[in-house]
Amino acid sequence: MKYLTPGPVQLPKFVVDAVAKQPPFHRGDEFRNLFKSVLDKLNALYQAQPVVMPGTGTLAVDTMIYNYVNPGEKVLALVYGEFGKRAVETAKIRGAKLIEIERDTPPVPDEVEDILRKDPEIKAVLVVYNETSTGIAYKQMKRLIDVAKAYGVLLLVDGVSGFPAEPLPPGVDVMATASHKALLAPPGASILYLAAEPRATAGVPPSMDLRKFIKSMQHLETPYTPPIPILFALDVSLSYILELGARYTDIHRERTEYLYSSLKLRPIPPPSTRSVTVAAFHCEKPKEVISKLREGGYVIAGGMYKYREKSIRIGVMGDITIDDLKKVVDIINNVAR
Ligand SMILES: Cc1ncc(COP(=O)(O)O)c(C=O)c1O
Repeated sequence: MKYLTPGPVQLPKFVVDAVAKQPPFHRGDEFRNLFKSVLDKLNALYQAQPVVMPGTGTLAVDTMIYNYVNPGEKVLALVYGEFGKRAVETAKIRGAKLIEIERDTPPVPDEVEDILRKDPEIKAVLVVYNETSTGIAYKQMKRLIDVAKAYGVLLLVDGVSGFPAEPLPPGVDVMATASHKALLAPPGASILYLAAEPRATAGVPPSMDLRKFIKSMQHLETPYTPPIPILFALDVSLSYILELGARYTDIHRERTEYLYSSLKLRPIPPPSTRSVTVAAFHCEKPKEVISKLREGGYVIAGGMYKYREKSIRIGVMGDITIDDLKKVVDIINNVAR
């Protein structure tokens, strides 16, 4: 089977091989060397303090919200899919006062600016920069960063399925992501990038307390046992991604553009909002399509959000080729027409 899923993704063999090792004790030099290597490489991908903790995307997003939003604070959330809704759910449980704008496509930065101008109590804006459930990326992130800075508001970004393939301009305050999507490693590490000090006044469980992680990192350690096998994987996958440089994004863009131009299905995202890592299509017979693809050796994902019953999603991250995509397109076009 080849996985054209939105994560976990099809891993290159050199990443799978890297995991099969004895994990060293995490209070020793072997671990410190590995940890330093991974942190340096993460830092080369995005200019902010990387933090690695055991977990997946959900924990990364929850940790971001719990460390940067205090109970009673006002948060503006931009929602255009399932993961936007999940971030809202966490923020509500945290006790934040939510202002939600839910749309089929992302609200533009000018609209966000209007809201921030009228409501100076808003402390943070929550945004999903690659909404995996709908294949929508927030393409005006640079302007959104400028707007948030101009109003002194924190920009909290769920970057789980986009980073580092979908371009992310510098200047985000906090970004939450995970190892098992475009970072090309197995699931098991929650990764955050911090450009602002954690500001929680209370109520953060120790396992999610970023202040503890930052303090331990000064000695190249983690407060609790880290996901060591995933660090082995990240060490090699990050080298590969860094070597490709800007080409990494181009490869993904070529793949999604091929799907959007070849599949005889109606895309969910309008052209100007299309993610480079996940393509999403309306589909009348998703179950049939998915099972025919399995017979052909490929796994894709069904729908989510309001498109749950009538859509398919194809992840193009991972060790796949245009030839794979051609086969997938042929199978889908035969079933779905
Ligand atoms: C944008 C986004 N946010 C959050 C998550 C949650 O991540 P996980 O399932 O790894 O906990 C996902 C998972 O697909 C995602 O795509």
